[in-house]
Amino acid sequence: MWKMRKFTSKIIIFAMFSFIFITMFKKYMSSRSAVLKSKQFSAKKPGMKYILLWTSHENIPFVHMGLGQSGFIGRQCEYTNCYVSAYESELGSVTAYDVVMFAGPELIDTNISLPKERLPYQKYVFGSIESPGNYPMCLHNFNSYFNWTWTYKLDSDIHWGYIVVKDAKGNIIGPKKDMHWIPWKDMDPVNDTFKQHLRGKRKAVAWFVSNCRTRSRREDYVIHLREELQENYSLDVDVYGECGSNTCPRDKQEECDAMLSKDYYFYLSFENAFSEDYVTEKLLIPLQNDAVPIVYGGANYSRFLPDRSYLNARDMGVSQLAELIYSLIQEPSAYAEFFRWKKYYTYHRTTKLKETNEYCKMCETLNNDELVKKHSSIFSFNEFWEVYETC
Ligand SMILES: *[C@@H]1O[C@H](CO)[C@@H](O)[C@H](O)[C@H]1NC(C)=O
Ligand SMILES: *[C@@H]1O[C@H](CO)[C@@H](O)[C@H](O)[C@H]1NC(C)=O
Ligand SMILES: *[C@@H]1O[C@H](CO)[C@@H](O)[C@H](O)[C@H]1NC(C)=O
Ligand SMILES: *[C@@H]1O[C@H](CO)[C@@H](O)[C@H](O)[C@H]1NC(C)=O
Ligand SMILES: *[C@@H]1O[C@H](CO)[C@@H](O)[C@H](O)[C@H]1NC(C)=O
Repeated sequence: MWKMRKFTSKIIIFAMFSFIFITMFKKYMSSRSAVLKSKQFSAKKPGMKYILLWTSHENIPFVHMGLGQSGFIGRQCEYTNCYVSAYESELGSVTAYDVVMFAGPELIDTNISLPKERLPYQKYVFGSIESPGNYPMCLHNFNSYFNWTWTYKLDSDIHWGYIVVKDAKGNIIGPKKDMHWIPWKDMDPVNDTFKQHLRGKRKAVAWFVSNCRTRSRREDYVIHLREELQENYSLDVDVYGECGSNTCPRDKQEECDAMLSKDYYFYLSFENAFSEDYVTEKLLIPLQNDAVPIVYGGANYSRFLPDRSYLNARDMGVSQLAELIYSLIQEPSAYAEFFRWKKYYTYHRTTKLKETNEYCKMCETLNNDELVKKHSSIFSFNEFWEVYETC
């Protein structure tokens, strides 16, 4: 009994000394690192990944990112240990951050100032959901400047897409550069119930649009298409929104969608600029509402859409397109064939799904040690961002 007590007190004394020693050692180490780094550096939490938004956090695309961890926590991302800062001063210096991000549209400005200091382990990220067609980057040479790209282009390091394609089992299969769709002839024909639904349609073409003047001059194409359809076939292009005379208010999105599904054969998914892979959520509107998309953009649409599910206005003259629209409306069975894909694929917005959400993906990537450690540099950024075509 007595022996036992002695033994216990020995352990207690040993534990106390250890505790004091460890506490002092920790203090010493932290004061040392504070001296080594800077006062603010000690604000960094271990395991946290620090992101500095070099360009404004109030503009696209960073505005939806959320400061601190809020964007990752709010989206219930798998990884939330990423911290977004809008001001360099938060950690004291640009070199304190793991990642420094730049928004494409702001880099076209002549006055943009860039960080003066850069450490080799830091990742500089180019982020953009806007296209070089609309924001040509002609004034600076960013070859070999960024380590990662975070854009809608399908060859980005981190893909920031607008749309995602799933197969019938729910696996994400696209879009991607090398898509292998089920050939149209191998897909089952559309069922009778669906054909019946399509037969209820009474109107030719709809377009919901708010931006009336664009670089792609899509508005001119639409004016000509409209004339052609009206004069030769007595068909209409109904333009909804600020650029047309029809209205379907944004706050009644569901009603507008239902109207499209019920009444319209075609929908104009016209992009505002021609850039590779620049295909926006405009494509989802017809796909999710039983209309055939008429696309107009700079993409190779086979990366985004199965065969015979759409018409490409850019491949055709206005009169050829008008004629095709007319003939498909005349032939319900031929028109229905454009919907074979529905049994095999579904289309979604990337932001709506946790597994494809671009903000979650960013934090996930920062937790991939292998990728983070790997040296990477976008040598031919000018080629990637189509500088030669747009300037
Ligand atoms: C660029 O800087 C100059 C001088 O500092 C200023 O006059 C000009 O308004 C700035 N331009 C833009 C686009 O901010
Ligand atoms: C377009 O994309 C498809 C599907 O990935 C590919 O097979 C085809 O070669 C591409 N066409 C061009 C012109 O790049
Ligand atoms: C369609 O209309 C245009 C004038 O808008 C006319 O030149 C053309 O011949 C017409 N085509 C057909 C097939 O009627
Ligand atoms: C008919 O096809 C549509 C579209 O693919 C589908 O949503 C629907 O479930 C099908 N209905 C039947 C009865 O198979
Ligand atoms: C990032 O890119 C710069 C410039 O090309 C390069 O010097 C640096 O080593 C790269 N860092 C990483 C972590 O890839």
